[in-house]
Amino acid sequence: MTNETMTSKTEQLIEMEERYGAHNYHPMPVVLDRGRGVYLWDIEGKRYYDFLSAYSAVNQGHCHQLLVDVMKKQAEKLTLTSRAFHNSVLGEYEKYITEYFGYDKVLPMNTGVEAVETAIKLARRWAYEVKGIKDKKAKVIVPENNFHGRTLMAISASTDPSSYKGFGPFVPNFVHVPYNDLKALAAALDDKDVCAFMVEPIQGEAGVVVPDENYLAKAKFLCEKAGVLFIADEVQTGLARTGKMLACDWEDVRPDILILGKALSGGMLPVSAVLCDDPIMMNIKPGEHGSTYGGNPLACKVAMAALQIIKDENLVYNAFYLGKYFRTELEKIKHPLIKQIRGKGLLNAIVLNTEDQNCGWDLCLNFMSNGLLAKPTHHHIIRLAPPLCITKEQMDDSVRIIRKSFEELE
Ligand SMILES: Cc1ncc(COP(=O)(O)O)c(C=O)c1O
Repeated sequence: MTNETMTSKTEQLIEMEERYGAHNYHPMPVVLDRGRGVYLWDIEGKRYYDFLSAYSAVNQGHCHQLLVDVMKKQAEKLTLTSRAFHNSVLGEYEKYITEYFGYDKVLPMNTGVEAVETAIKLARRWAYEVKGIKDKKAKVIVPENNFHGRTLMAISASTDPSSYKGFGPFVPNFVHVPYNDLKALAAALDDKDVCAFMVEPIQGEAGVVVPDENYLAKAKFLCEKAGVLFIADEVQTGLARTGKMLACDWEDVRPDILILGKALSGGMLPVSAVLCDDPIMMNIKPGEHGSTYGGNPLACKVAMAALQIIKDENLVYNAFYLGKYFRTELEKIKHPLIKQIRGKGLLNAIVLNTEDQNCGWDLCLNFMSNGLLAKPTHHHIIRLAPPLCITKEQMDDSVRIIRKSFEELE
């Protein structure tokens, strides 16, 4: 193939998406075709380091062989029965994941936002059945600049106009406090109608905002004192991403309700989960919540393998060690546009020192032409989150690309 025909193939595929698909995303101009480990290849055969990992869904690396094998095997046997019947994998998975994280029960869902919805329903039901809040009065505290997904409930909790503007009316009774502000949290908790505080241990979509040390532990303490549930949305931060199995583990916090998604299937299919103990979970009765695909045998098998890989391949250790190394190496890039490097484990960001709305995008275009994929969030923040199986040599090569891309900026 000549260069011209290859380019036109890329253009054709992008045009087809624009012509027939909703314009609800603004992707980088690359058409990906294949993935393995930390690498992605575009339709023209060019190889890239993946520094987005499908927003931390591919912690185990692209097309992990074990996941592919488990998926193929189960797909040939049984994929979906709905929950109208029992299936031969669900119980095994439920035992596995509850023992893995140390909770009484799990409620399986599909996408991250569905698990968030589930957590809020559980908290509200607990409010009425256990805490004794009057019907329809329950409130949930959420930090400003949160991101929990795109359903009406999740955007009702959002303070970002690009999430909620033009989609009202909203789900009521979310109370906002600034992130990383314990005084404001304490004040908001002084309300007998508050049933839960839902928090991201690190705010991913907001730009990898890491709170002060002990914020989570102190917030948990305040919630306990007020008789309020602490809900951790670990959809993005969980499953080894930040150098601990859960980001809450950094402060030895055990959430009352734990929300997982994304890497729970290592990128194979949407699998999410809500974990909590019986006094919270058992307030939901048959017929009161569910989803057709939640707990399907294919998802259950894949999730068990995805969790096992994290342990077997020491991904927690790798994320911790290489994350530290990565930030140290990034700090050595002396460039006037770099304002801050922040993150934990392999969830990191470079904050750019610029008012120019295009600068982050241009930098990511440079990354791309040099063989690394990342995308700006809020124009001036570049999240850098490779699959956790990345090696030191691959990291060195990636840092070289990042340095070169900065040097090439005008
Ligand atoms: C913290 C957090 N919660 C929930 C979600 C929503 O997950 P999903 O896109 O699978 O619905 C995301 C997605 O980025 C997230 O980062």
